[in-house]
Amino acid sequence: MFDIFLTVKKGEAKKRIEELKELIRTHNHNYYVLNAPTISDFEYDILMNELIQLEKLFPQYITKDSPTQNVGSDLAVTGAGQGGFRQYRHEYPMLSLSNTYDLEELYAFDQRVKKVADSPFSYNCELKFDGTAICLTYKDGILFRALTRGDGTVGDDVTSNVMEIGSIPQKLKSGTSYPREFEIRGEIYMPYEAFDRLNRQRELDEDPPFANPRNAAAGSLKLLDSAAVKERGLESTLYHLIAPDLGVTTHSDALKAAAEWGLPVSEYAKECKGIEEVVEYITLWDEKRRSLPFATDGIVVKVNQLDLQKKLGFTAKSPRWATAYKFKPEEALTKLLSIDYQVGRTGAITPVANLEPVLLSGTMVKRASLHNSEQMELLDIHIGDYVYVEKGGEIIPKITRVEISKRSASAEKARFPACCPDCGTPLVKDPEEAKSFCPNSDGCPMQQKGKFLHFIGRKAMNINAGEATIEQLYTKGYIKRLSDIYSLTSNELSQLDKWKEKSVANFLNSVKQSKERPFSKVLFALGIKYIGETTANSLAYTFKSIENLMHASREELTETEDVGEKLADSIISYFSNPDNIKLIEELKAAGLKFSIDENSAMKLSDALDGRTFMITGIYTIPREEMKAYIEAHGGKVASSVSSKTDFLVAGEKSGEAKIKKAEKLGVEIISEEELYKMTSK
Ligand code: IVH
Repeated sequence: MFDIFLTVKKGEAKKRIEELKELIRTHNHNYYVLNAPTISDFEYDILMNELIQLEKLFPQYITKDSPTQNVGSDLAVTGAGQGGFRQYRHEYPMLSLSNTYDLEELYAFDQRVKKVADSPFSYNCELKFDGTAICLTYKDGILFRALTRGDGTVGDDVTSNVMEIGSIPQKLKSGTSYPREFEIRGEIYMPYEAFDRLNRQRELDEDPPFANPRNAAAGSLKLLDSAAVKERGLESTLYHLIAPDLGVTTHSDALKAAAEWGLPVSEYAKECKGIEEVVEYITLWDEKRRSLPFATDGIVVKVNQLDLQKKLGFTAKSPRWATAYKFKPEEALTKLLSIDYQVGRTGAITPVANLEPVLLSGTMVKRASLHNSEQMELLDIHIGDYVYVEKGGEIIPKITRVEISKRSASAEKARFPACCPDCGTPLVKDPEEAKSFCPNSDGCPMQQKGKFLHFIGRKAMNINAGEATIEQLYTKGYIKRLSDIYSLTSNELSQLDKWKEKSVANFLNSVKQSKERPFSKVLFALGIKYIGETTANSLAYTFKSIENLMHASREELTETEDVGEKLADSIISYFSNPDNIKLIEELKAAGLKFSIDENSAMKLSDALDGRTFMITGIYTIPREEMKAYIEAHGGKVASSVSSKTDFLVAGEKSGEAKIKKAEKLGVEIISEEELYKMTSK
């Protein structure tokens, strides 16, 4: 597939094989479990190919646990249910596909098939949907179970989540003749539109954005709250029917039958008479896929005749009757107009390129990240350059290279500023992070405004205002320190542009309400470097009050869940600044909570001890509160209905399928009222 120089000595080969195995295992974990890859699929395939080639030359070093012998695992934690889902064994192993970026290898695949075939055959060409694999079992026309690929042998049971995906029927079309029991496999994916919407929201919420639609789909499928899955806008296409005695002889007819039963089957598949027609299909879709509303990363070529498929059989990892031709990552060429140097709330400077708008993977791209000064140096970027952009690991695309041949003689090299573009303070470099910072954290307007925006954010103090309000309040000099928000008067607010009595009252009310935010949110709102939402929670519940946290030793801090050395140092440094202590005193005086509310964290009773609950539908209180309520009374809340569930608390508009499943498993179904009665005994 890729030319690699294979003059490796035996000793070196062994070392390199071990190195590659380790590397690929790490990348598998990042991709399948964390849903956060750090390299592109293309780079991954290069590593995998090197390992395949080396193992071919030195078969004595092939081990059973080599990534070439196993499919990557998406199981969060091995062992039943530990990752939050029950796990089940696949009836038939869920395999992967061999792949290539090279047409020559596709011809070689055709030759291998021809050798085995003793009668004319055809190929079924399909789009390779870039999502996450799913295996559905239907019994008597009802969706019985949905499993992820897992490690290929055992998968996570994500049935209740899959039931929230509109295109997957919970019941097959009545009157059609589906088998009593069958399996169908396919892909769950997230269309670009839903992906962009999700990442925009995540950015607002300060959650890390998903790297690509595939990771977003895989992450969404593993959410513990099924209701949240519905909002993610997942779609599905099914491409592999496994059923005995279907009465069909080709794969394409099997899919046709599945479509008649009401299952989502791709409309883009095509039967091709020979390899030349396959290549035509590939050429057509390499271009046409750019206008599809979802991501594809190649074409899957499958032998269409089921008897020939059977004859060809499988390797340990993939079928011999199918292969994937993968497209190189999509890139676009456009002009670099200018570079903005953004100042974040922590003072970090990020260069962002403004580009001539260009279409890439279905979305119009106007801005791209340049990461840091080193990246700019590496690219040797000049203003006016034509640059290639690619959708990489971040929400905004990245510039991968410059088209030097198109550079104009007068183009000027882009220079990373030596001083803060906002306040003019000389920048300092953090060698560990390859980032430049503006050290003027108390005086730099951009940093200050960023801090206010973070403070009022939905996941922090949840104050009803946006960037424009902060800008006005800051420019007028009404807010200099975070605590100033709590002494704003209606007189000051009514001076703001377009602010009427009602907006003033709304704002003041929201400021007042923010005083009820729990300690964990207040801690997050302070904006201490590296404290995210999750770590703020862990710290609040471990240390219980700001005083305890302030006086915690480095060891005590690093013993806390999710707290590493870097974060511990950041906390110590924050509290060693007298101005921060003063700020906390001011916020305390304003009425903010700096310790956990013992009542809310306290166990209210043990009425539900040892019982497992599943919650579904709408209650008179928010779901989160319902969960906290059950837990405060000693109960456990599970993510899906299983035989281990004791009660299903059915709210309004509960999912029919969940109720049916609960009934089938003998799980007692109770109302919200009945739950409250159980705890009042
Ligand atoms: S066939 C044994 N068909 O690509 C049959 N897979 O890289 C194997 N995929 O694990 C699957 N679109 O998750 C097949 N039209 C398609 C596909 C497809 C996407 C995924 C699937 C598979 C992966 C292999």
